[in-house]
Amino acid sequence: MDPFKNIIPDDARMREAQAHAQAQDTEERRRFEKLADDINKARSDDNWITKELTKQGVPPRYRGAKFGTWNKELAGSAAGWVEGESMVVLGPTGCGKTYFAAACMGEYLRRAVTKAKKMSVNGFGVWNLVGPQDQLFITAPALLMTLRGTFRQQSGPTLEDMIGKYSESAGPLIIDDLGAEKTTDWTLEALYLIIDNRYSWMRQTMVTSNLSMEQIANRLGDRIASRLVGMAKPLVMTGKDRRLG
Ligand SMILES: Nc1ncnc2c1ncn2[C@@H]1O[C@H](COP(=O)(O)OP(=O)(O)OP(=O)(O)O)[C@@H](O)[C@H]1O
Ligand SMILES: [Mg+2]
Repeated sequence: MDPFKNIIPDDARMREAQAHAQAQDTEERRRFEKLADDINKARSDDNWITKELTKQGVPPRYRGAKFGTWNKELAGSAAGWVEGESMVVLGPTGCGKTYFAAACMGEYLRRAVTKAKKMSVNGFGVWNLVGPQDQLFITAPALLMTLRGTFRQQSGPTLEDMIGKYSESAGPLIIDDLGAEKTTDWTLEALYLIIDNRYSWMRQTMVTSNLSMEQIANRLGDRIASRLVGMAKPLVMTGKDRRLG
């Protein structure tokens, strides 16, 4: 699986780059070079990654999460994640699951920048991440609230649109804190639709939870639990509640 399949050339930038290449007039070339310089500055890796993490819904506390300070098992799975594999991360409150997930998303984006840079022409970043790729880092309660919110709206995306977005996004989806949502038949159905779809289409997904797999099965049902295990071997993070110092 190519985890970066959703990076495509940005047509407008491509046109600018081509215009630059063709410009004979020195003044005009200089103007283009300045523009390229500005674009590159605005798109410096850290800048771009922070903006992208924000767009993906990673909260401020976790945007600076550092990748790679894990034990061997976690580090191995995290390396698989940036290559496009899915993950299920379990563990007690405060042990660092959300931090880990944010760091993995950050590293994925870092790789995406490196890969995308290879698509530059004459110094222009002629690439873009496309697809319905915003807000793909979301807690399970927020996800369900977003889905429920579609009922109240007169216009905007419908419930089907939103389920489609989370089921079919080209980029990786992280559902943080599965099991923290209030369960009703309706929420179970919505979660099942999304998880089943991502499982069936082998779309890169990370799920974190405070619950054990057994508790997930009891709370959300065997069918959801089975698909999670089928997606990735659950990893159990240990450690004290870091919030307590
Ligand atoms: N490896 C780390 N290095 C530095 N700080 C960390 C690390 N892991 C976690 N933290 C910090 O510890 C706190 C708790 O971590 P986090 O929120 O990721 O826990 P959690 O497992 O998601 O908890 P919960 O299950 O309650 O959601 C956060 O403030 C986080 O920034
Ligand atoms: Mg958390």
